[in-house]
Amino acid sequence: MADLSINLAGIKSPNPFWVASAPPSNTAYQCHRAFEAGWGGVVWKTIGDPIVNVSSRYSAIHSGTSRMVGFNNIELISDRSPETNFREIRDCKRAWPDRALVASLMTDTREHWHDYLKRSADAGADGVELNFGCPHGMCERGMGSAVGQNPEVIETIVSWVMEVAEIPVIVKLTPNITSIVHAARAARKGGANAISLINTINSITQVNLETFCPEPYVAGKSTHGGYCGPAVKPIALNMVHECAADPGVGIPISGIGGISNWRDAAEFIALGSTGVQVCTAIMHYGFRIVEDMIDGLSAYLDGKGMASVNELCGRAVHSINKWETLNLNYKRVASIDYDTCIGCNLCYIACEDGAHQAIDLVPSTGRGLGPGRLPGKPVPQINEEHCVGCNLCSIVCPVEACLTMVDRDTGKPPMSWQQYQERLANGEMAPIPAHP
Ligand SMILES: Cc1cc2nc3c(=O)[nH]c(=O)nc-3n(C[C@H](O)[C@H](O)[C@H](O)COP(=O)(O)O)c2cc1C
Ligand code: SF4
Ligand code: SF4
Repeated sequence: MADLSINLAGIKSPNPFWVASAPPSNTAYQCHRAFEAGWGGVVWKTIGDPIVNVSSRYSAIHSGTSRMVGFNNIELISDRSPETNFREIRDCKRAWPDRALVASLMTDTREHWHDYLKRSADAGADGVELNFGCPHGMCERGMGSAVGQNPEVIETIVSWVMEVAEIPVIVKLTPNITSIVHAARAARKGGANAISLINTINSITQVNLETFCPEPYVAGKSTHGGYCGPAVKPIALNMVHECAADPGVGIPISGIGGISNWRDAAEFIALGSTGVQVCTAIMHYGFRIVEDMIDGLSAYLDGKGMASVNELCGRAVHSINKWETLNLNYKRVASIDYDTCIGCNLCYIACEDGAHQAIDLVPSTGRGLGPGRLPGKPVPQINEEHCVGCNLCSIVCPVEACLTMVDRDTGKPPMSWQQYQERLANGEMAPIPAHP
């Protein structure tokens, strides 16, 4: 069986699945429950000067029958005292010595950072995570994303922290920034041992058209919140990749954002994360989701003949390149499996109105009739000459593996945009004709 253990900048845990700093990591009670369920690590709910929260605090985007595909909150950091939080961290660490317990911190002055670092180490935390990410409430007080959006401030604060750090320091980055790489490089320059990303994304999920007030509703007003959950995974994956691929960053990554199952986690790891953190999926389904995550990742690694999670780490990083390096002579076209096609014609209308008019509706002439199809009803047929291989029809097709994309040999050697430009400049070829 594959070795699931990880070592993130000196913080060891028996598996790569950590609870992110958030409501599920608020108390010792929850931390014990998380470890009992099998989580490899917990990043404690951010500790700082205790705050006062508002009621209500959350809103969400649902899609069809899927609840909480995007989740928004206006909650702040811990509303419990640092004394209570550090005491409970000490108790949890004593009870679970083999798990990773990380104290998430947010404060302001150099003295306060030094104080919190010392108290975290004294409590037995395996590491600290500096929360430079909260997009609401704390940034108005000069903390959270107010720090994370300014690389110079990141570097300064990390360097203060590193003056006294006896345990590994992770810097948690905000996605509410033009380039995450600049923030990540600043964390590295300040001396951070690792980065974690992403925190939540600035958001307003919906406006009530009767009251003209968005949710979450607080006595007739609302405020922008932080977005997370499955909807943010693509944004998080891209940012993780940007950091993993940048030589100026070069420190381990803890991946966060929309992770709900082992497959999501494996994707983050393949794009360069050493381990992952989860919040929304736990708030939705509870701590026990980790059981399937452990089983699924383990079976996947075994199936791939990988002996450890480390072997997966970064495997996909180099397959993502600049657009101008892609092969212009590669061709893919849509292909329909008529045995499973249900004749809904969604592919036809999508291509007709939203793409390249490369699907014709033709009378069914004896080809297989999938479930629900009526004899004589027109069937979609791909016109390969017009198909540009955009993938749209295969994305809208509701039947798994019915409309797939297949390779077509163009007989031409690979040629990137860069090479095309060089050949044009050298007069080696004529411009590729524009589409009619
Ligand atoms: C209600 C709520 C409270 C959060 N509180 C914190 C916090 O105190 N500190 C922190 O670093 N991140 C906090 N986060 C952000 C999460 O740790 C995580 O970065 C984010 O939710 C993305 O992960 P997810 O898509 O798995 O939820 C909070 C998120 C939510 C939903
Ligand atoms: S891949 Fe795009 S262009 Fe080709 S048939 Fe499908 S929607 Fe049309
Ligand atoms: S969308 Fe899929 S199932 Fe529907 S007609 Fe097209 S190929 Fe058939």
